[in-house]
Amino acid sequence: IIWIVDFGSQYTQLITRKTRELGYSSEIIALEECHKRFQEGHLPKCLVLSGGPQSVFEDPYDYSFIFEHKDLPVLGICYGMQLLGKFFGGVVEKGIIGEYGHADIHFTNQFKIAGTPGKMSVWMSHSDHVSRVPADFDVVMESSNKLVSGIKHKSKPIMGLQFHPEVEHSKHGKSILNYFYQKVANLSKDWNASEMLEEAFEMVREIGDKKVLCAFSGGVDSLVAATLSERILGKNLHCFFVDNGLLRIQDYNHIQKLKRETNLNIEIVDAKDDFLNALKSVDEPEQKRKIIGRMFIEIFEKKVHEYEKNHKIHFEYLLQGTLYPDVIESSPHINGGKSVTIKSHHNVGGLPERMKLKLLEPLRHLFKDEVREMGLSLGLKRDWVYRHPFPGPGLGVRILGAIEPEAIRMVQESDQILFEELIEAKLYQSTWQAFTVFLPIKTVGVKGDGRAYEHVICLRMVNSSDGMTANWSHFPHEFLETVSRRITNEVKGITRVVYDITSKPPGTIEWE
Ligand code: XMP
Repeated sequence: IIWIVDFGSQYTQLITRKTRELGYSSEIIALEECHKRFQEGHLPKCLVLSGGPQSVFEDPYDYSFIFEHKDLPVLGICYGMQLLGKFFGGVVEKGIIGEYGHADIHFTNQFKIAGTPGKMSVWMSHSDHVSRVPADFDVVMESSNKLVSGIKHKSKPIMGLQFHPEVEHSKHGKSILNYFYQKVANLSKDWNASEMLEEAFEMVREIGDKKVLCAFSGGVDSLVAATLSERILGKNLHCFFVDNGLLRIQDYNHIQKLKRETNLNIEIVDAKDDFLNALKSVDEPEQKRKIIGRMFIEIFEKKVHEYEKNHKIHFEYLLQGTLYPDVIESSPHINGGKSVTIKSHHNVGGLPERMKLKLLEPLRHLFKDEVREMGLSLGLKRDWVYRHPFPGPGLGVRILGAIEPEAIRMVQESDQILFEELIEAKLYQSTWQAFTVFLPIKTVGVKGDGRAYEHVICLRMVNSSDGMTANWSHFPHEFLETVSRRITNEVKGITRVVYDITSKPPGTIEWE
């Protein structure tokens, strides 16, 4: 397995993804963890040092623990290349000009990589640069600004790239990575869809004949996690789907379909009244999120006690569809391990501690697109594994202010109209998420011949690749018009429909 040491670059996850796409297994680890493993005698097949926002001048770390292993293949990307430059006795300088965004590079010193042209456009993001290359290295790539873009050790399997081969904008980046893994590091391929599935099955097999509880939302992650676990666990897997009263019409339809068309043992837990009572008159977004999170835990606890008492079933494991991006921790010395809480995301995070459940997370090494691929290979329908994400707190964060039954109805009905029209217009897959938001204000309108003084529905549709940044979806005006007309005609209490044209940042995707 290849270890990718995370120095805090925003592209580190992409290195892993590209590496896996090329057929090599890889994981992201923090520098401290990497050092610890080396000290314990565990070495990877190959090490990639990622980019990072800091400067090698301020980095006091002693990297000799890596380079004393002379046959260990090491690829340094951006910051990683500057570390190589500094460690092996070259000179790294603060740049007068930086290179950000597109840059043109070319090979030098007769260096060649099969399948790539001699000149290519790549993505850069640096101001420091290696100004004198260490004596043991050759310069193999240079930018049109005459800066060193690639270096290769004369005798060891070590290479440095100043640009980011992992991003799409680096045209032949994947071929360059492949060159390193194949020709420099001499690795053999060990990652593909069936390996991925086998590894996940193995994690489930390891728990043996135990009762497993799954907090099942019907979303892609819990569906794939449950489907693959069911193949091993059979009836030992119990899926609880909590109806908190804050679900969309499409969710109710979906869960019924899953009950009919899969082998999963799904129990729908009706907790509508509990949730709505607990949320009565609460209008502050964070407080709503906390209450919904707490209620989920309470409902699960109640359910588990009921199973122990009435059916003598004792759950030992909680199955969760946790994905790799939630598992990765970057180096604590880089970001202090802290980030600002914008929204307290709700999952079922409090469950395991309170209920002494062990966690079963068979997807914890996978990215979303890998999970989707796995879902398809398990025989799940394409539209089940390509559903839009839906937040844990559900419509609770799409009804601004206090949650009233009438507001739930209006947001549910308008959401269903939007959903139907997206499918009809074949636009569902052209957007990352699409939903309606209930605004707790009234505006004046005219319906028939009379004055109306009613509520507003906002349409929110965004394009994004990971939910971290997003732009509003530029859909045809005719489509927006149809949705608006249907909502004002069919949803009682709505006279006005608006379209949110805010990107993220500064707006978040959800309104609360
Ligand atoms: P924001 O609103 O933060 O949303 O821009 C980014 C993505 O995360 C989803 N989201 C959540 N998902 N629990 C979840 O599982 C949550 O509490 C939660 N809040 C937001 C949101 O729908 C979008 O896809």
